[in-house]
Amino acid sequence: MADLRRAAAQWLDGLRRGGVTHLPKRPATLAAAGAAQTQPSVESEESVKARKAESAPEDRAAALAALAAEVARCRRCDELVRNRTQTVFGVGNPHAELVFVGEAPGADEDLRGEPFVGAAGQLLNKIIAACGLKREEVYILNILRCRPPNNRTPLPDEAERCRPFLLGQLNIIRPKFICCLGACAAQNLLQTVETIGRLRGRFFEFHGAQVVCTYHPAYLLRNPSAKRHTWDDMQMLLRAMGREIPKTG
Ligand code: URA
Ligand code: URA
Repeated sequence: MADLRRAAAQWLDGLRRGGVTHLPKRPATLAAAGAAQTQPSVESEESVKARKAESAPEDRAAALAALAAEVARCRRCDELVRNRTQTVFGVGNPHAELVFVGEAPGADEDLRGEPFVGAAGQLLNKIIAACGLKREEVYILNILRCRPPNNRTPLPDEAERCRPFLLGQLNIIRPKFICCLGACAAQNLLQTVETIGRLRGRFFEFHGAQVVCTYHPAYLLRNPSAKRHTWDDMQMLLRAMGREIPKTG
């Protein structure tokens, strides 16, 4: 019994490290195990479909958890490994329609192990709320999973070494929309050197997702007059998502 409890705790911990904040009411593996014991060997097509649909959320959560465990062991960037408290994988809904991409963890994120929990994160939360969305329904990650010393901008080599993890997460979540926050996110995701001023205000395509680029919340904290541009970008995004645009922005 203690073993079982420990195994369950480890499994949940893995999911948490994978950024999973919610589980389906009936865990699919348990549902499937129950079905195997109590049902005849021929399962109806509907039942198979329902079981598959039910198991999908958990599969993504498990895939993210496995990738997060790999990220936690990553030692590709000497300087970052030496300076980090922990890796910062990502957080949110494995089935998110919208993923926000930031730059790299800062001091707060390095301590908490979660992206966008500091001052910039508070503003991002306000932006998400102004869009009529909840932080739990989107997914949030960064170009880098380790904090650069003194919050310096990620080096191109570091972004390159972390890219398989970024693409891995996006490939599991398969969002319809991606919002790049700031030049670092936009340039690294889209592999361009265009300025954020030129990248914002239009859509790009990335692996089947529509990408919007806007200013980084930390930039908006220093330049509040640019907030109206970010609100324009978010409205453009919400229209494409078929969402109502809340009155106050
Ligand atoms: N800034 C970022 O780009 N990412 C974070 O996670 C926090 C601040
Ligand atoms: N420069 C950046 O790197 N990001 C912004 O959001 C704005 C200017």
